[in-house]
Parts: sequence; C-alpha cells; structure tokens
Amino acid sequence: MTDAVESHMAKSSLSFVCQNCGAAYNRWQGKCEACGEWNTLSEEDNATAVPVSIRSKRKGRQFALESLSGKSQDAPRLSSGMAELDRVTGGGFVRGSVLLVGGDPGIGKSTLLTQATAMMARAGHRAVYISGEEAIAQVRLRAERLGLADAPVQLAAETSVEDIVSTLSEGAVPRLIVIDSIQTMWTDTVESAPGTVTQVRASAQALIRFAKKTGAAIILVGHVTKDGQIAGPRVVEHMVDAVLSFEGEGSQQFRILRAVKNRFGPTDEIGVFEMTGLGLREVTNPSELFLSERDLGAPGTAVFAGIEGTRPVLVELQALVAPTSLGTPRRAVVGWDPSRLSMVLAVLEAHCGVKLSGHDVYLNVAGGLRIQEPAADLAAAAALVSSLVNAQLPTDAVYFGEISLSGVVRPVAQTAARLKEAAKLGFGRAVLPESARGEVAGDAGLTLNPVGGLTTLVAEIAARGVPRGNREGSRDATAVEKNATPARFRRENG
Ligand code: TYD
Ligand code: MG
Repeated sequence: MTDAVESHMAKSSLSFVCQNCGAAYNRWQGKCEACGEWNTLSEEDNATAVPVSIRSKRKGRQFALESLSGKSQDAPRLSSGMAELDRVTGGGFVRGSVLLVGGDPGIGKSTLLTQATAMMARAGHRAVYISGEEAIAQVRLRAERLGLADAPVQLAAETSVEDIVSTLSEGAVPRLIVIDSIQTMWTDTVESAPGTVTQVRASAQALIRFAKKTGAAIILVGHVTKDGQIAGPRVVEHMVDAVLSFEGEGSQQFRILRAVKNRFGPTDEIGVFEMTGLGLREVTNPSELFLSERDLGAPGTAVFAGIEGTRPVLVELQALVAPTSLGTPRRAVVGWDPSRLSMVLAVLEAHCGVKLSGHDVYLNVAGGLRIQEPAADLAAAAALVSSLVNAQLPTDAVYFGEISLSGVVRPVAQTAARLKEAAKLGFGRAVLPESARGEVAGDAGLTLNPVGGLTTLVAEIAARGVPRGNREGSRDATAVEKNATPARFRRENG
C-alpha cells in the first residue's frame, strides 16, 4: 500500500460530528445542516465506523419468525415499587426497554434511581447499579442516608461497556440496570474519547442491544445542559424507548418527573416527589401539596385548575402588582411562560382598561410547579387584577381558560376532570370559559361562573375592590374603576 493511499484512507476515517444531533460530515462547517445549530461540529475519529462484526461479509443466520399473539415468558411490565415513577413510565419498566432520565446536576437523579433499584432488589429482583461518576463509597454513603444500605443491590463503579455487558451476561438476567451516567461510558468499538457524541452513541447502542437481547430494563442517566437539552447526545433520545426529565426549582424541595417521550405510555404525565433529608418522598396528591401553603384571603392569589398529563392538578398562582419606582417597570415570573404573562398584561391594557404600565408585576406559581398550559391565562389574569385593585378573590373558586388576543375566554380541554378535582378538594365554584358550559354534563358538584370575555371578569373583580386605607392609598382600585365599571361592560356587552 502506498503512502498516498494510506493517508487518503486515514483522512476518510476522520469525520466531523455535530455534538448536538450527531450528524456526520467529512468537512468542517460552521452550521450543522441537520439540526441548524451553529459551531457544534467537532472532529472525531471513526465517527461513522460500524463495528467490525457488522461489517464482515458473513452468511446471514436464519431466525424464526413469530406471530403477534405469542406469549412472552414474563410479565411485560415490572413495577418499580414507587407509584409516582410507575405513573410516569406508564405502569412500570417494560422488559427489554431502555429509558433515559435527564436532569440538572444535583436535582436528585442518583437519589431517585438508588431508591428505585433498592426497591426492586428488596422485591427479590436482580437489580444492578453501575456508577461511572461516583466511587462505591459515595454510592454507599447515599444508600446509608436513605436507609437502604441493606437492600441487595448489585453495585459497581465501572465505565467500560464491554466489561459491564460481559459481567452482566453471567447468571440470572438482571431485571433493572441503572447506568449513571451514559456520558461517562465508553466502548472499544469506536476510538473517540469518552464523552463525545460518537462514544455516547456507540455505548448506548451496545447497552440497548444488551437490553433487547436479554430482556433486562436499562435506565440511562443523562446530563442536561443549561438550555434543557440532554447534553450532546440528543441522538440518545432517538434511540431509547422513553425519555424522562427530572425537574425542580433549586430553592424548592418539590421535584417533578416528566415523560418527554414514551413508546410504551402517555407523555406529559408527571410524577411528584419531595426531596427530604431521607431522600425522595412520593407525593400522591399534588393538589393538596401545591395548595398546602395557601394564604387564604390574601388579594392577588387565584387557584388554577390545571391538567398535568392525565392528572388534574390544582395550584395557586400568586401575583403582586405594585406601583413602580423605576423607569421601566419590572416583570418577573416564576413557573410560567414570561411571554404568556406579557400577552395577558397586553390584553388587560388593551381591552379591559387595566393600566399596568406604571406597575411592577410579579407572578409566581406556588410549590415550584412549572405550568405549560395556556389554560392558566384566566387564573393569572384574575390574580393580577385582584392584586392591583386589592380585591380578595373568593377563596372557594378555581379558574381556568385560555385568553385570546382579542380578550375572549376560550375553552380548554378536559373541563370535566378539572371540575371534578376542584369539587373533590372542597372548592365551591369554578370560573370557566362560557363556551365550556356545554361540556358539563349534569351536576358538576360546584357552582359554575362562566365568563365569555376577560372584560366581564375584570369588572367583577373591580367591583369587589376595597380601596386600601389612606396609608397605602397608592395601590388603587381607581386604576381599573375609571374604565372598567360593571355598567360600562353591561353597556358594551349587552
Ligand atoms: P443527587 O441524587 O446526587 O443528584 P444528581 O444525581 O441529579 O446530580 O442529589 C443531590 C442533591 O440531593 C444534593 O444536593 C443533596 C440532596 N439530597 C437530599 O436533600 N436528601 C437526600 O436524602 C439525598 C440522598 C440527597
Ligand atoms: Mg448523580
């Protein structure tokens, strides 16, 4: 072989791989054409290499073809022993499936999975915990703190996929294998450094193959970058059967496990946990938790009847609207979409005569829950106006409904489920979109207060407004009163 050919071959085995989506190129370029990200290409050896065993021209082995109705030897799903985790996976771990659990560092991924492995082991299943990040002593320390040190978990601190597969092929097939984390794993079949997309992808592939072959369920832990992506290996998200994301506000003890993708169950289902000194505690009734610290009777709070996955969740929205001392008023929001808040504020100004340009606005979703539904618009608007005019909202009311740019209150999905949860928790009335009334069959168990437009709601709240004593006279009902009197709305709407 001449030098020229050799160097050509060496060149062609080099490749540039997008660290975001895994697309490979043979030249460097600024933008990845596959995912549109900039500056994500980096050079990796053998990026597109296929393991030798697959490349060889062996004669194909013949395999048996099966029918759809055949019986599998074992129960297809295995409960983790934690109901909230089972809820998110869709009823337990599916045999031979691979699950990716992502989340910020320190959020509690290792804690959650240590608990799950221990529960499985205690139930008599072979459960394995492979830590690529922490030493055995550290994992043991955590288990001790969780009171799980006696659980017969099989523990190892390893990072070589070949060693792991070879070790776990011995003896009974493990029912659950936790790999903490996939970014620390590496395989001999590719030459790139650990942590690169190529390594992560090849390692995940090898582990997925092992899961499918043996029927073991595997959980891969994945790091998340600042912008919420599972760092680098988005490719892994496509390869696995389910992706769960573990979230929470740093200062809050509540943690939410969310299904982002699930081949075997619903997505957008949430599991709620509380981080305590003794590990994660399951929260079976999130509504009670999110309402537990309710400041009854304070102006500026409204209870939103939301839906998370298949489960209705009631949560308190807290607003503070106060005259600003700054040139540009502040808008701060925790747990909700800031652009959604801007939209609601704009609609309040444009259609309801609520002047907020001279006020700071703070909106907070209690309990660290992050709401994604537009159905929260109505509750947010009610809380904001309530704070502005210093009018307490009825403490037994829940709110839901989407607000359109024209100020119309639009219907949202699952009206009945929202009402049922509210009635169950002792609420007496619901403020909801007028057009949703038709969906309520029979007795909803609470008084319905349908609103067609945001103006109606604002007028109702303004009418309840008690101007503050002269000491605090600046937070004024007059900001609304001038434009939004009930009489004016009757005139306009009637
Ligand atoms: P950890 O599971 O190590 O997070 P991750 O694997 O996602 O990086 O959890 C880290 C945090 O959880 C740490 O700040 C301490 C806290 N923690 C508790 O509050 N209680 C506990 O019982 C445990 C084990 C951890
Ligand atoms: Mg960890």
